Amino acid sequence: MLTLKEIQKQLESRIFHIVGETADDMGYECYVVGGYVRDLFLERHSKDKDFVTVGSGIELAKAVAKRIGKGAHCSYFQNFGTAQVKYRADELEFVGARKESYRRDSRNPIVENGTLDDDLSRRDFTINAMAISLNAANYGELVDRFGGLDDLAAGVIRTPLDPDITFSDDPLRMFRAIRFATQLNFEIAPNTFEAIRRNAERIKILTRERIATELSKIMCSPMPSIGWKLLRDAGLLKIFLPELEAMAGVEVVNGRGHKDNFYHTMEVLDKVAAADTNCNEWLRWGALLHDIAKPQTKRYDEKAGWTFHNHNFVGAKMLPRIFRNLKLPLDERLKYVQKLVELHMRPIALVEEVTDSAIRRLIFEAGDDIDDLMILCRADITSKNPEKVRRHLENFEMVLEKMRIINEKDNLRNWQPPIDGNEIMAIFGIGQCRAVGEIKNYEKDQLLESETPNDRELALKLVLEKGASLGLTPTLRP
Ligand code: CTP
Repeated sequence: MLTLKEIQKQLESRIFHIVGETADDMGYECYVVGGYVRDLFLERHSKDKDFVTVGSGIELAKAVAKRIGKGAHCSYFQNFGTAQVKYRADELEFVGARKESYRRDSRNPIVENGTLDDDLSRRDFTINAMAISLNAANYGELVDRFGGLDDLAAGVIRTPLDPDITFSDDPLRMFRAIRFATQLNFEIAPNTFEAIRRNAERIKILTRERIATELSKIMCSPMPSIGWKLLRDAGLLKIFLPELEAMAGVEVVNGRGHKDNFYHTMEVLDKVAAADTNCNEWLRWGALLHDIAKPQTKRYDEKAGWTFHNHNFVGAKMLPRIFRNLKLPLDERLKYVQKLVELHMRPIALVEEVTDSAIRRLIFEAGDDIDDLMILCRADITSKNPEKVRRHLENFEMVLEKMRIINEKDNLRNWQPPIDGNEIMAIFGIGQCRAVGEIKNYEKDQLLESETPNDRELALKLVLEKGASLGLTPTLRP
């Protein structure tokens, strides 16, 4: 963490002086504030620079844009008292200090102007409620009324006011508390956390889009499990994603228990996150949801013990509803997560019996997503028994190696059988009909079983063979 002295150096950049001088000319107090100040101390990249003024945020923004001159563009929302100046890569956000809760995405018109202290006290967390003066008289002075700097240093998320008030101002802050704890690896202060538990039901008034934004940030954190465990402990998870909550716990019958699937999932998710440093959010959703159907497919029988038959297929079918509820995208990203969930057991099954044709089939079905699938599968190998994990991983590496060799030889990633549907129709002089699909499937299946899936002669032989079995005779010799 940087010291105040060190961050004051960063405030020497021209833009802060322009804002400060403009405010001085107008007789306004002006501060850089909120998340931007927090991120300066933490040396995190922050997109927007937030300014609060004891005066009109809009008037100040207009004057700043004028002072910058060419290239600066000012837009504002009169009703909400907020304004934005865009200049080169900078996005400068201006707001007048207010008495009521501050939120960038608020749809509520401003109620009453306030002092700087009023404004800071209605922000979400002490670490987000610090301001640094930009007026010449006290340039670079930190205003920290609620011990934000101490909390930053100690790694604590705490509300500046009574947490019940802060959370009732905007219940999304309960998610934000957990999101910051996850992103920054901070603790949530006990009374703040208790208030989240107490107020959990209030998240029902939030739009799902706002929740999804926070979930996405949790997902792209280095250890997303921190967030999901907190969401569960706080009692939020069961409200917005009961299917995941249902995975927690161990059932024991005749002294035999199964894994706690929630904690297993958390382990898998963190392992995937560690392997996926650029954050493919959807691979991480795949990790989170790969076993989602385990609770409902769970059976016990004396011989087999606990089984979760077909949980991969059932899980993939559950996803559209889950995505719709969470307002996650229903496009190819959903399809991708479905594919991961559906195929997540296949590579492990190969560990037990690895044949070339099974590997070919898997590469064909996973297509370009095969590498992501393998990241998920490797992460899925968890056990309390280190020897078992070692053995599984060793076998897994063997499968990977074999996969590499076969893929190199046959180039199967975007593989299509050599004779396509159009050609099949031409060969038999038929139009689109079921037979075309049947012939193509037969060709594909047999080729994947063979040593030479790209062999056109063999493909033709298979097409003619299947055609004949369906009573078709070729009209055209290709
Ligand atoms: N804020 C708040 N309550 C909210 C949202 C925001 O009090 N529900 C305040 C906080 O002071 C926050 C600032 O508004 O620091 C800016 O909000 P925003 O840009 O949404 O968040 P950041 O804290 O900047 O963090 P991030 O960019 O990671 O979302």
